[in-house]
This record gives sequence, C-alpha cells and structure tokens, in this order.
Amino acid sequence: IRSTVLGCGSYLPEKCLTNDDLARMVDTTDEWIVQRTGIRQRHIAADGEFTSHLAIKAAQRALRHAGVDAQDIDTIILATATPDNTFPATAVSVQADLGIYHGMAFDIHAVCSGFVYALATADAFMRCGQSKRALVIGAETFSRILDWNDRTTCVLFGDGAGAVVLEAREGSGTLGDRGVLTTHLRSDGRNKCKLYVDGGPSSTQTVGHLRMEGREVFKHAVGMITDVIEDAFAATGTSADDLDWFVPHQANKRIIDASAKKLGIAPEKVVTTVDLHGNTSAASIPLALDSAVRDGRVKTGDLVLLEAMGGGFTWGSALLRW
Ligand code: ACO
Repeated sequence: IRSTVLGCGSYLPEKCLTNDDLARMVDTTDEWIVQRTGIRQRHIAADGEFTSHLAIKAAQRALRHAGVDAQDIDTIILATATPDNTFPATAVSVQADLGIYHGMAFDIHAVCSGFVYALATADAFMRCGQSKRALVIGAETFSRILDWNDRTTCVLFGDGAGAVVLEAREGSGTLGDRGVLTTHLRSDGRNKCKLYVDGGPSSTQTVGHLRMEGREVFKHAVGMITDVIEDAFAATGTSADDLDWFVPHQANKRIIDASAKKLGIAPEKVVTTVDLHGNTSAASIPLALDSAVRDGRVKTGDLVLLEAMGGGFTWGSALLRW
C-alpha cells in the first residue's frame, strides 16, 4: 500500500505584518530580520479567527484540488501546537465543520515537526489498512503565544494552515510508486527547555508564551535535519541528485541553506517561503508544498523530500513521489 497525495491546499490570514511594521512595535530593523532569518513578512490571524478556521479553509481547498468529497475522508490528523482549546482536539472541529460524522479525527503535537509526524502517522494507518482516505493538516496561530515585547522571538513566527489529501493505493513496492516512500521520526527531550511555552493547563493554568534560546536551537538544527535525511536516503537507496524538490520546514533561511549545502542539494531544488510566511510551525511545510504545486514547480511523479525540526526537540523526514 502507498499513501498517495491526491491534492493539497493552504490558507493564510488576510492581515500581513511586515518587518517595518514590527520595527514600530519593538527595537528591531528590517535589515536585522532579513539578514538573520530571511523573513520579510508574516500573516497574522484576525481577532476571532482560530486555528480551526484556518485549518478548515486549507482542508476545503485541498479537497477541491484532490477532487475528493469530504464524505470520503475517514481520517483527519491535524498537527498543531496552538489548538483552539486544551480539548477537544482541533481536528474534531474541522471534522464537524466538513460535515463528517464517521471515521477518526485527532491532533498531533510535535511543534514544528508536526506535519511530518502527522504524515507519517497517516501513512502508518494506511499501510495497516485502517484508513482509506485521510486529510493531513498543519495549522497554527503562533501569534497568540508570542511575547510581543520580546524582539528575539516575535519577529520569527506567523499564522497559517496547509493540508494534503492522501489515498491508500496498491503500490508495486518500487521507488517509482506515487506516494509516501519512507518516513523517519526522532525526538530527544533533553533539550526541551531550549524551545518551549512557559504555560499550560497542568503546570500554570495559563496559555503562556514561547521562549527560545535561538542560538542553541540553531546549533542543533542542521545536524539533526541532515541526520534524518541521510536515514531517508539510506532506506530508499536514493541521494540528493535523485531529488526533484526539497521542501524543508521554514524556520530560517540560514538553516535551510546550510542543510541543503551539507546534503549536496542544489539551491534551485529548494522550495523557500520563509520570506513571505515567517515560521508557521506545523503549517510551514504544507504551505510551502502548496505554493510550489500551484505555481507548477512540483508535478506528478516528482521525488519530493520533506524535513522538519522543532521544539522537544523533535525532528523528522519524509520522502515521497508526488
Ligand atoms: N532585532 C534586532 N536585534 C536583535 C533581535 C531583533 N529582532 N533579536 C535579537 N537581537 C540582538 C540580540 O539581542 C543580540 O544582541 P547583543 O549581541 O547585543 O546581545 C544580537 O541581536 C545577536 O543575537 P543572537 O541571538 O546571537 O542572534 P543570532 O545570530 O543567533 O540570530 C536567531 C537569532 C535568528 C533567532 C537565530 O538564532 C535562529 O534562527 N535560531 C533558530 C531559531 C529557530 O529556527 N527556531 C524555530 C525552530 S522550530 C520550532 O519548533 C518553533
């Protein structure tokens, strides 16, 4: 069985915050932000616009693109670190809004690696015959957990959502099959204090704010990313030369460039949206994928490598034939 991508979709809130806008809020400059991160702007959810609202719009667009009726979906996996409520899972709001009253819907929490974790989970359900058609969504409203007085973090993140529709299809077991070819997930809680939110229902009964030792995260990022990508290459007997597209988590242009360089992935194969979206955590990969599909870069049959790393630390890779 191969989990084949039938279509994708994404959604960004209307409000766009530029680096110059931020420079009027905290002591920063467009030059500093662009030079250190590559970010030029990010989208911010409106008052009353929740993670589920972004997720539903992305999911509807993905269903339309895939030509799949919502009633044919039996699994919704939503990756988010910014759920509407502590519970129920934001995925059930999406399920209800799409008018789906069968199958399963649940959230996955692996911060910026969430989409790769969700994709790997959906793939596992398909391979063991429990799911026929799945919506895999990454959706975040990080603007709600930022400390807007902390210039070291508030300039980095944005809001948004992206989704893919997967279908379980018979495969021949070769690299030529369309669908997810291999996934590799990792985590290591020893570094949980390097990137975390200082609140939560059990600890402080507050929502809290994102806290990060940016330099420490940076130091670990490239090594972890390249490790799980080497795992994907080893598992499939592929190399950087075989790739058509590299769609990394969009945290920072310097991390993306350094990872691609270390792996020998040509710069023209790298899909980058961090300049326009900022870091949208679990939403960043499906947002980047959707933009590259819409503008005609990613085409049916292309070999696409996804990679993410985030709080936990968690990290992972997925290699798929589009
Ligand atoms: N504007 C202007 N100056 C700033 C800003 C800002 N927005 N933020 C920090 N500075 C200052 C600092 O105060 C410091 O000043 P000092 O030298 O006088 O003390 C100086 O700039 C350098 O700060 P550093 O933190 O050392 O800057 P660095 O080059 O490491 O860049 C950054 C910071 C961009 C955060 C970088 O470390 C980074 O990208 N880290 C990875 C972050 C990341 O990707 N996180 C997401 C992971 S995914 C997830 O799960 C959420």
